[in-house]
Amino acid sequence: MAETPKTASLTIDGKTFELPVLTPTLGPDVIDIRKLYAQANVFTYDPGFTSTAACDSAITYIDGDAGILLHRGYPIDQLAEKSHFLEVCFLLLYGELPTADQIEDFEYRVTNHTMIHEQMHNFFRGFRRDAHPMATMVGVVGAMSAFYHDSTDIADPWQREVASIRLVAKMPTIAAMAYKYSIGQPFVYPRNDLDYASNFLRMCFSVPAEEYVVNPILSRAMDRIFTLHADHEQNASTSTVRLASSSGANPFACIAAGIACLWGPAHGGANQACLEMLREIGSVDRIPEFIDRAKDKNDPFRLMGFGHRVYKNFDPRAKVMKQSADEVLELLGIENNPTLQVAKELEKRALEDPYFVEKKLYPNVDFYSGIILDAMGFPTSMFTPIFALARTVGWISQWKEQISDPQLKIGRPRQLYQGVTQRDYIDVENR
Ligand code: SDX
Repeated sequence: MAETPKTASLTIDGKTFELPVLTPTLGPDVIDIRKLYAQANVFTYDPGFTSTAACDSAITYIDGDAGILLHRGYPIDQLAEKSHFLEVCFLLLYGELPTADQIEDFEYRVTNHTMIHEQMHNFFRGFRRDAHPMATMVGVVGAMSAFYHDSTDIADPWQREVASIRLVAKMPTIAAMAYKYSIGQPFVYPRNDLDYASNFLRMCFSVPAEEYVVNPILSRAMDRIFTLHADHEQNASTSTVRLASSSGANPFACIAAGIACLWGPAHGGANQACLEMLREIGSVDRIPEFIDRAKDKNDPFRLMGFGHRVYKNFDPRAKVMKQSADEVLELLGIENNPTLQVAKELEKRALEDPYFVEKKLYPNVDFYSGIILDAMGFPTSMFTPIFALARTVGWISQWKEQISDPQLKIGRPRQLYQGVTQRDYIDVENR
């Protein structure tokens, strides 16, 4: 016998409305309020989207209480240990782990799209050398709309595919060029004989004056950092990309919008802010002072790299990142790095403090990533560009999923109006 559809009853001014309840594969049920305004002439109010599902998706699932993160059903710790970034890109984009032939073809296509149009080099020269690389990336990625016209028609599946490959392939080149420009060194072209992470490290750190040999420890750690940042459900920057794409904007403009949103210190900018905070703390004996400040309601200071809207348990990415930090710094012979010692002691004391325990504040993906990136030789200003580079595949996967939804509607939230009621114009001589 067919199951009776679940409903939720909402009673307003004595009138009851039955709202359909949608059942997910995983996670909480969802009350479908799409017809609520038409039926009951009311809006729902959720400015931070703390209880709102803005879309349906099959890409990433997070269980914040259990500290679980799945990409197309595969746990992030398994992917970080057993897979590699371009294979994770394939999984996010196409829904399944690739066969050997599929990954070979995919890696060939990405590798052969890593160069950017030569004329785009001029864009970098329009920026001040001391511009933040994220500012440069927003500008240059947005400008891709002015060069790659043959992959901006979102109605054409083939153009959507080409734009996806171009963005995954060219982001490392653009990020590396933003870095080189900021330090006054010449741009380094990608090499097709290097893997994705090694190519990025070489484009960032090699100079024409000498040969550059990629350190396999660093390229493996770099690849793992890319994997840990690849996608994360409907976070702020992904939601920005989805909202921009709902108007039919081209993929390059949508990704530029995502980069702009990610830059904020409450989001992807936290990795830079976290390392700067750890350096400001400087030594373990100053930790109590900063923990007290983080708990002080009158002090805007927050522990950067701590807390999360969804995780009320350990961020599984932070666990892998912490292990990777230990490995990389030990292999580099800098396991006694003072910043790492401060980070570990700060984590230990915060997790023992009732304030953080009660508010369920744990280290997030940004808490340890900066320590590894710093050990690799990146300046803090490159931390968020690296996050953006890795998250591009997540943004594009979510963009493709939304664009191919036949029920796609333009996103247009309403509001709780708190302004003045209607009044007539007053001539200036009467004001
Ligand atoms: C990312 O959404 C994603 O998935 C994002 C991300 C991704 O992969 O896309 O995971 C990447 O953005 C990770 C988060 C990086 N940001 C930071 O590390 C910045 C520091 N963290 C916070 O600003 C905060 O925790 C947020 C922004 C991450 C989450 O904020 P919420 O969910 O809106 O929670 P909140 O601000 O309402 O905080 C709840 C309480 C508050 O206290 P009360 O008002 O209830 O008394 O916890 C407190 C906050 O003051 N709190 C903190 C804190 N984070 C929250 N207090 C001290 N230090 C902190 N870090």
